[in-house]
Amino acid sequence: GSSLIVAPSILAADFARLGEEARAVEGSADWLHVDVMDNHFVPNLTIGLPVVEHLLKATTLPFDTHLMIEAPDRWALGYAEAGSYNVSFHVEAAADPVGLAKNLRAAGSKAGLAIDRDTPIEPYLEILPHFDTLLIMTIKAGFGGQKFMPELLDKVRTARRHLASGHLELRIEVDGGIAEDTIEAAAEAGADAFVAGTAVYAADDPADAVRRLRRRAEA
Ligand code: DX5
Ligand code: ZN
Repeated sequence: GSSLIVAPSILAADFARLGEEARAVEGSADWLHVDVMDNHFVPNLTIGLPVVEHLLKATTLPFDTHLMIEAPDRWALGYAEAGSYNVSFHVEAAADPVGLAKNLRAAGSKAGLAIDRDTPIEPYLEILPHFDTLLIMTIKAGFGGQKFMPELLDKVRTARRHLASGHLELRIEVDGGIAEDTIEAAAEAGADAFVAGTAVYAADDPADAVRRLRRRAEA
């Protein structure tokens, strides 16, 4: 499709009330972005498969599961089998990204390739046909509330040009520092899916924050 995706990140939500926080954006968000961190791939720890399995039952939103973990080859499939709509894993951590993407798709999920701040995109353009989403970090992965890095949008531009020339249909998703004052630049660069943690869950009205972000991205 051609419409834009807004995906609130639960990293900025109240972890004691994850179900309610998810349902608060059901009417306005497209996906729920679920950040899984293992304290090894990134120096931060969030939730794992048991919590994700329960959270899936608490909301109708499609899950955009973002794995910031070591050895995704070993762990990612469980998140697909649990019912995630999309599972993104980091190319920096994967032993066999293409093999894992195939397994995720076979398990009924979309497959996402995530690229952290310091990783160039060019070496991975050729494996994009195996993926449905390309998650380009616009910060260094690990923590919410960091400052958006506009220079990382060059990767979005490179990817968008590559997709256009090869007639490939992937979502290009940006994650990190996306807010009302940064989302337009990301959209202009070619992103069509936008993760926002702080900008949604630090707002008084998270559902309205999602609507405002969407309007900005469409402008
Ligand atoms: C950080 C996570 C992001 C995080 C973004 O590594 O991948 O999804 O929630 O948070 P904000 O939107 O606050 O930058
Ligand atoms: Zn994320």
